[in-house]
Amino acid sequence: MSNIERMNGSEWQEGVAYARGRFVEPGDAVIPIEDRAHQFGDGIYEVIRVIGGRPLLIDYHMERFEISAKAIKLRLDRSMDNLRQLVLDAIARSGYDDAQVYFQLSRGLARREHSFPDVPSHLSLTVRRMDDSVFEGARKHGLSMTWTEDVRWKYCYIKSLNLLPNVMAKQAALDEGYQDAIFVRDGFVTECTSSNIAIVKGQTVYTHPANERVLHGVTRRFALKYLREAGVEVREEMFTMEDLMQADEVFTMSTIIEFAPVIKVNGTDVGVKTTSSDSVLRRLQSAYQSQIKRNEH
Ligand code: PDD
Repeated sequence: MSNIERMNGSEWQEGVAYARGRFVEPGDAVIPIEDRAHQFGDGIYEVIRVIGGRPLLIDYHMERFEISAKAIKLRLDRSMDNLRQLVLDAIARSGYDDAQVYFQLSRGLARREHSFPDVPSHLSLTVRRMDDSVFEGARKHGLSMTWTEDVRWKYCYIKSLNLLPNVMAKQAALDEGYQDAIFVRDGFVTECTSSNIAIVKGQTVYTHPANERVLHGVTRRFALKYLREAGVEVREEMFTMEDLMQADEVFTMSTIIEFAPVIKVNGTDVGVKTTSSDSVLRRLQSAYQSQIKRNEH
């Protein structure tokens, strides 16, 4: 199913939803117009994958959520334990095995003025069923991408609700017949519209440093930890599109896609070794499968 079909159907009204302190129906109109998230995009979010009713890498997500909140001076108004429990309760309530949890925290409900209001922050959350098989093709056979100038602000490590450059770049890529876009800033590859990216040259993996220019992906974090423990050399260094075009492997990583090869950029084959059975990418995919999805870590 395409994104458009998904949006136009009633699927978004299914699942579990929580807003303004209670569970509600996902289709209910419960968010006032004057929510800071609605009017300013003033808030942060997380997306957590659920498999077998269990949230994957939840500690990493919680840690990043706190970092994002602090970075935009957003009061949590609840403990991280309380938030974690809410996530677990919502998953249990959904009864879903395969799902994704989305939660966001806005600076609250207040009359529209730019300055911070002195009101509680507002947490909303959904649990939606996920059909993982939709991504199997991409994970196995790879993605065809384009690249575009990274015009985002300077603080991309904050998982901010402001995703306009990301959605614009994604849609432009789709309109041109590609599956996603790689962001390039000042000549260096940063990440993709909703995933991190890495290349392999020889036996060394390169990915952009976890600084202000990229989101510090949870999946990226798993990958680097796994690779270093497995004795693979990882360099958190910037690389160019030219490096990428000549790399042995190119792959993307996120909570939703997990790990997927990038096989073409603007129609040119890239990373021809990415899909071979002994590639770094294939090792990562099988480690993720056994250690994270089957909880053997
Ligand atoms: N996006 N970079 C960007 C810009 C992202 O939006 C994401 C995730 C990632 C990967 O992060 P993680 O491994 O923690 O999922 C990198 C989520 C899935 C989203 O916005 O839906």
